[in-house]
Amino acid sequence: MSVILVTGGMGFIGSNFIHYWREHHPQDGIINVDWLTYAGNPDNVAALEEQAGYRFVHGNIGDAAGMNRLMEQGVDVVVHFAAESHVDRSIHSPGNFVLTNVLGTQSLLEAARQHQVKKFIHISTDEVYGTLGQDGAFTERTPLAPNSPYSASKAGENSPRTGMDAILFF
Ligand SMILES: NC(=O)c1ccc[n+]([C@@H]2O[C@H](COP(=O)([O-])OP(=O)(O)OC[C@H]3O[C@@H](n4cnc5c(N)ncnc54)[C@H](O)[C@@H]3O)[C@@H](O)[C@H]2O)c1
Repeated sequence: MSVILVTGGMGFIGSNFIHYWREHHPQDGIINVDWLTYAGNPDNVAALEEQAGYRFVHGNIGDAAGMNRLMEQGVDVVVHFAAESHVDRSIHSPGNFVLTNVLGTQSLLEAARQHQVKKFIHISTDEVYGTLGQDGAFTERTPLAPNSPYSASKAGENSPRTGMDAILFF
């Protein structure tokens, strides 16, 4: 049995991940930490609310002390979805993108390092590589070329020096 800390589990992809994981690994515990921004919808996981092994924590990933308290309870794996994720909003108010996507991710990584979390999986985006032409494909060796505040903040999370185990690009 493992304890999985999911960030952004009230959002689109995070909530689907939680449902998938509960179905396929029912023995694992899930802690869903989400700040419930405009993008978070509690209805996405309402069916899980009363289930043993599932817990929701209303928290901001940028709250370093709060993330430390969560991880000191014993977390085996972090699956990090929480983000400001809408390109258009990033053009009008980029500050929140830096706070959540860059500094929030850094505070999570620091808490995970301090509490020796075994695995940290971070969800990124192919937008960090820019825009494809008519054909071609990105690989993980493609040079970063973000072209919006959103993709720049996601590229800022992706430094090889952050020490993540895995970065998944959607
Ligand atoms: N949806 C896509 O098409 C897509 C494509 C590529 C990459 N991604 C990446 O996948 C991840 C999930 O995307 P999504 O579409 O589910 O996003 P979403 O916007 O639907 O959900 C994001 C969730 O994060 C929460 N959140 C925001 N700021 C937070 C904070 N400071 N602390 C805690 N929680 C916070 C929100 O309340 C929300 O529940 C993101 O990292 C995004 O960059 C998504």
